[in-house]
Order: sequence, then C-alpha cells, then structure tokens
Amino acid sequence: MRRGSILSLVGIGVVAGAIAAAVALFLPWLPSPASREAGRIDFLFWFVIVICIVIFAIVAAVMAYEILSFRVPPDDETDGPPIHGHTGLEIVWTLIPLFLVTAIGIVSAVVLSQNDAQGKDVLHIDVTAQQFEWNFSYPDSGGFSSPILHLPKDRSVLLVMHSKDVIHSFWVPQFSQKEDVVPGLTTTLHITPDKVGTYPVICTELCGLGHALMRSEAVVMEPAAFESWAEQQKKTTQPGASGGGVTNAAGKTVFANNGCGSCHTLTAAGATGTIGPDLDNLRRYASQAGQPLEPFIRESIVDPNKYIQPGYPKNVMPPNFGTSLSSVQLNALVQFLVSSSRKG
Ligand code: CUA
Repeated sequence: MRRGSILSLVGIGVVAGAIAAAVALFLPWLPSPASREAGRIDFLFWFVIVICIVIFAIVAAVMAYEILSFRVPPDDETDGPPIHGHTGLEIVWTLIPLFLVTAIGIVSAVVLSQNDAQGKDVLHIDVTAQQFEWNFSYPDSGGFSSPILHLPKDRSVLLVMHSKDVIHSFWVPQFSQKEDVVPGLTTTLHITPDKVGTYPVICTELCGLGHALMRSEAVVMEPAAFESWAEQQKKTTQPGASGGGVTNAAGKTVFANNGCGSCHTLTAAGATGTIGPDLDNLRRYASQAGQPLEPFIRESIVDPNKYIQPGYPKNVMPPNFGTSLSSVQLNALVQFLVSSSRKG
C-alpha cells in the first residue's frame, strides 16, 4: 500500500472514531450514578465501550477502504494473487487484543472487589419482597419498617434480601446494580449512596400479574436527616409490622384529628369525603403531577394550591397545615399517606 493510502486510511479511522465517540459520550445513555458503586460501574462501562468504539472504527475503516480500493473490474474473472499471511501483522493483531482484554479483566476485578468492600459502620436493611410490594425494615435503627427505602448519604448500606413467594429482583437504575430476591435464600447487595435524591425502586424479574406495578422509591438523605427520620419512624411506626402491613397509628390520628376525612376519601382511615381528591389514588395523582410520591404528598399538604388535581376545586384545602401541624405530626401524616396509598 502506498504511503498516501495508509495516511488517508488512518484519517478515515480517526474521523469515524471521533464521531462514534462523540455520539457515545455526549448523549445521556445512562442515568447519572447516585452511588459510589454506580460511579465505578459507569467508569468500567465506558472503559470497555471506548475500547470497542476505537477497534470497531479501525476495522470498519479498513473494510471500507478495501472494498472501495480493491474492487475487481466487472469483466475480471481471475483468482486473486495467493497470499500466505504476514507474520508481523499477525503478531500485532494478537498482542493488541491480548493486552486490551487483559486490561478489561484487571479493571473489572478491581471494580468488583471495591464494590464489595464494606465501609465502617455498615447500615443493615432487611428487604422483604412479595407479590407485589417491597418492604424495608431497619434492625440497626430500632426495628421499624417502611414501604419506602430511606438511605443515608455516604454510608455503607447492606441490603439483606428475602422473598416471601417467588423470585423478584431489586433494581435502582441510578445505583447500577441488580440483585435477585429468591425464596429460601438470603441475597445481599452493598450500596454506598452518594447523591441526595429520590430514585425509583423497580422489580426487574417477571414475578406475576402485578410485576409492572411492583415499585417503590429510594430516598437518599443527608445523614442527619436520615437519623431524624429514623427517630420519627421509631416513634410513629409500630415495630414488628411485617409483610408490608405497616400500620401508622400516629399518622392516622393526625389524619382524623384534623378533619381530613370530611373532604377526602381514604380507605385506610375509613374516610369517605368527596370534596377533595380521593387519597386512595395518590400514587396516580403524583405520577400525573410528574413528582415522586412522598414529596408530592408533602407539598400538597403544606402548599395545597401549588398543584391542583384536575377535576377538583382550587382554594378549598386549608393552606395553613404547614404551620398548624408540628413537623412530627406532618411527617407522621405524610408517612401514613405514603404507606396507605402504596397499592393504589
Ligand atoms: Cu416482583 Cu417483578
């Protein structure tokens, strides 16, 4: 091959590689990581992808060049010249992949071992999966349980997972890890959340008719906020409640004492009011409003006119619950509404 041809070949390869790398790197293909483990997995993912993109671009460029340059004329029926290989080239195309695959293996092993390494002061959370709901209990923080997964930021968390019926699988996309929850087995998943926020918990193993609805939320909180939430839960949630049967007596009392039932329907509180939105449908309303359930409920109590569910009147809900309720009462009420609407 002439020197000019080789240079143009390299040029095609570099341009194709740059375009492919830009498409890969500048479009949001993956959710942004919210745990240290996810950050490492992301790094590994892109490490492999970039190698693949470069190799693919070079191979594709060589093929394109050869197809264009070495086409036979239409009337040429002769065999091509016999070729017996090229020892130098074969050594090169053996050694380069050997080096790359070894590098991928080493980086993967390092990421796996770092992701399994638990930090000091591990928080254990028992995860119970059943058709079709999640329940999270906190033996290290007083034994209460919650249908929503609350996690402190920057602390090693070990999920200890059990299933009551069939195989489920725990997945939070922003944590990048999936782990099956299997009846008769204890499986574990180690997470160190590092970004405050609310993320979906998704069952990612087909487990029956309600599989698509088997969802919850993971709320990553600042450590201090997590501690006060846990304190609050200890006071308001009856310990020992299992199988998702969380009863939230304090929140129910707040609901009853503030007359919520005269305007709202809520099966869990025996309320049948029809003036305001039907609270058995809170989950649907939250998704219509495009908000996670818990913040949506909180906002709707504290600032009721901010979002009005279509079909219901504005300026009817008293706007002062944010000040008339103590934060303890408000938290209990929100938690009660979250847990009683989780099947809706
Ligand atoms: Cu549980 Cu799908």
